[in-house]
Amino acid sequence: MSAELTPLDGTAALVTGGTSGIGAAIARALLRAGTPVAITGRDGDRASGAAQALQEETGTECAGFALDVTDDGSCADFVRALEGFRPIEWLVNNAGVAETMASASPGNLDLARRLMEVNFFGPMRLFAALGPGMLERGGGRVVQVASSASLQGYPYVSSYVASKHALMGWTRSAALECAPKGVGVSALCPHYVDTPMTDRSIETMREKTGRSEEDLRAFLAAQNPGGALVTVREVADAAMELLRSDRSGAVYELIGGSTAVIEEGVLIGAR
Ligand SMILES: NC(=O)c1ccc[n+]([C@@H]2O[C@H](COP(=O)([O-])OP(=O)(O)OC[C@H]3O[C@@H](n4cnc5c(N)ncnc54)[C@H](OP(=O)(O)O)[C@@H]3O)[C@@H](O)[C@H]2O)c1
Repeated sequence: MSAELTPLDGTAALVTGGTSGIGAAIARALLRAGTPVAITGRDGDRASGAAQALQEETGTECAGFALDVTDDGSCADFVRALEGFRPIEWLVNNAGVAETMASASPGNLDLARRLMEVNFFGPMRLFAALGPGMLERGGGRVVQVASSASLQGYPYVSSYVASKHALMGWTRSAALECAPKGVGVSALCPHYVDTPMTDRSIETMREKTGRSEEDLRAFLAAQNPGGALVTVREVADAAMELLRSDRSGAVYELIGGSTAVIEEGVLIGAR
């Protein structure tokens, strides 16, 4: 795999949900490598503030935009706002949400619809908006921040698991379709990562079980095959490798302490 590939001159990377956790870490890694980045969040002021802080920290251009990935109108506004920035060559579909609910609960149907909107239709909307430009230029990379929940089931999160499985199915097909046209589409599948999302899961478990935060954090770390929570740095390093890769349809599993290539994908056609 190439370690040197960068986006075309004049283009930029986009990280959805770059205001927090994994997205902020991937944006930081891109900026440190000298790639201009657009980050998004639902609150435009929060996204601009986070972008300004990242730009000051790294010295590379970073712009923040409002985007709710569940909303067609918000997506259209965002694409218009991007016209004053740069074309997007690298897209990291990271924005996502997780919620627990028993599979048989009547509310699980509504929850599944909400989670599908963010975790599955969100990445599809972004690709529908930005993919045609990449295919026309004959170059581009898409990295989906999927999950170990794209590869296996977990109790009480059937809607989340379903949304992340759907994302993987879409990714595997799009990867094969886009590779001959110069565009790579690949996926990261981290087990539990040390982020605000995991902090919220721990808080919910603490309320339900009365167990201490420390105990629950150790419990989740022990669930990871590597025995430790995945760090956002590990996810960012893996994302950079996929963005720079000459393969489409690669799937990386992050288990806590190490990363495995579980699907190698196919070679991307020449630009
Ligand atoms: N944490 C884990 O253990 C873990 C493991 C595997 C995979 N993942 C995946 O990694 C991704 C990032 O998770 P994280 O742990 O970093 O969570 P996080 O800290 O909660 O960050 C989630 C990000 O998604 C954005 N977001 C949420 N809903 C959105 C919407 N409707 N439209 C646009 N942006 C939205 C949030 O931005 P605003 O709040 O500013 O809108 C935030 O920046 C998710 O796709 C998650 O499923 C996480």
